[in-house]
Amino acid sequence: MEHQIIKLPPQDFYKKCSDIWDTVKHEQFAKQFEQELYSGNRIAYIYQIDGENIAEISIVFDTDDPDYTIEKKRAYISHLVVKHEYRRKGIGRELVRFIIDKAVEMGYKELSIGVDLNNYPAIKLYVDCGFDKVIFIGKDEQGEYLKLLKIISPREEVKINDSQSIYNR
Ligand SMILES: CC(C)(COP(=O)(O)OP(=O)(O)OC[C@H]1O[C@@H](n2cnc3c(N)ncnc32)[C@H](O)[C@@H]1OP(=O)(O)O)[C@@H](O)C(=O)NCCC(=O)NCCS
Repeated sequence: MEHQIIKLPPQDFYKKCSDIWDTVKHEQFAKQFEQELYSGNRIAYIYQIDGENIAEISIVFDTDDPDYTIEKKRAYISHLVVKHEYRRKGIGRELVRFIIDKAVEMGYKELSIGVDLNNYPAIKLYVDCGFDKVIFIGKDEQGEYLKLLKIISPREEVKINDSQSIYNR
């Protein structure tokens, strides 16, 4: 089985994401998602196996919540979903690692995520991936949730002589 992670072109949003989640039932969110793709505020990646759309993850750069995004410093992971029959195979973890690498490449220092307090699989996954700071515990109309943070800034390399180097801690 061949798998790949592709960047989602905005014009393919409905075609590809409808394979993964119900864009009709979640119409309002789907519209916001598409708008953000077109504006460049969101980049989404699709995990494909043999060309089939299996999972997705996004990075969002600007939200109205300073816990989630800080310009050029903190970005937000949004909408990680793996199709039911493909769960527990390591795809979620691979996508989280992938998006962390992308955020580092883009120069971000921190990544945030919001997760429902009763979503144990997702909390376990994020904590395992280093989202080890709880910056908020609260409640909204959808229930109790956490905001988690991961510091992703690469450690600076310090030269100690011409042939050796160590890393700052
Ligand atoms: C959360 C979700 C993305 C995880 O994706 P996944 O591909 O199944 O996750 P992985 O197989 O990579 O699992 C990685 C780790 O997460 C944890 N985990 C994932 N699913 C779990 C479950 N059902 N129960 C307990 N731990 C779980 C485990 O620690 C797992 O590592 P392990 O398999 O070595 O024990 C998936 O369950 C999903 O799409 N859920 C619905 C959408 C959702 O809730 N998204 C998160 C929104 S914040």
